[in-house]
Amino acid sequence: MKKPLRLGVNIDHVATIRNARGGRFPDPLRAALLAVEAGADGITAHLREDRRHISDDDITKLRETISVPLNLEMAATEEMLEIALRHKPHAACIVPEKREERTTEGGLDAAGGHNHLKPFVTQLVKAGIRVSLFIEANPFQLDAAVSLGAPVVELHTGAYCEAEGGARDEEFARIREAAAHAETVGLECHAGHGLDFDTVGPVAAIPNIVEFNIGHFLVGEAIFVGLAESIRAMRHLMDEARTGA
Ligand code: PXP
Repeated sequence: MKKPLRLGVNIDHVATIRNARGGRFPDPLRAALLAVEAGADGITAHLREDRRHISDDDITKLRETISVPLNLEMAATEEMLEIALRHKPHAACIVPEKREERTTEGGLDAAGGHNHLKPFVTQLVKAGIRVSLFIEANPFQLDAAVSLGAPVVELHTGAYCEAEGGARDEEFARIREAAAHAETVGLECHAGHGLDFDTVGPVAAIPNIVEFNIGHFLVGEAIFVGLAESIRAMRHLMDEARTGA
């Protein structure tokens, strides 16, 4: 039996558009509710240190309102740990974060950052939050996630999505092998970053991956077809690829 593939819709960039004007619209909470109606299994939001998109208030409202799992993306800092422990989202995905980057560039160095990350993973797990580490598709990083006690990894698909031709095939092979390795070492495997209608299919067909987190493309596509239609189309492509239809 093929494992089902969940879709977490990342609503960060609804907040980016709101913040461009500094007002209240468009409302990320409304986007989250619509995403659930359109087939999202969960909502993902990245509370950045500089609050460039999602705000503390957004997290409070999401936590109070949505009925599906909330996945909080966060840097491994004391401030974010305190917020996560206060809100107790269903899941927390630890990501690397640099102020000067435009988006999350590259994965977390779970191997090199073991001593720094260990107390964060331990406290989040102890609080009953499902912890995932956003890492590159590299067996050393996967093994480091195991030794940190994280039950889940999210493989960074950015390099695969940006590459073309043979280089994309190579990046894809790395993701496929890493997903298989994740299952062997007992990690639940997720994937995300940069996925669009063209790149989603091959990754959705990898049987060991059980969740995607997708945001930027969906919010961009919503300009043309509306958010619900953009999510429904992505869901359809994922399901088609997973069932091999
Ligand atoms: N997963 C993680 C850990 C991310 O940091 C991001 C970007 O915020 C995504 C998934 C979604 O990437 P995109 O917005 O490019 O779909």
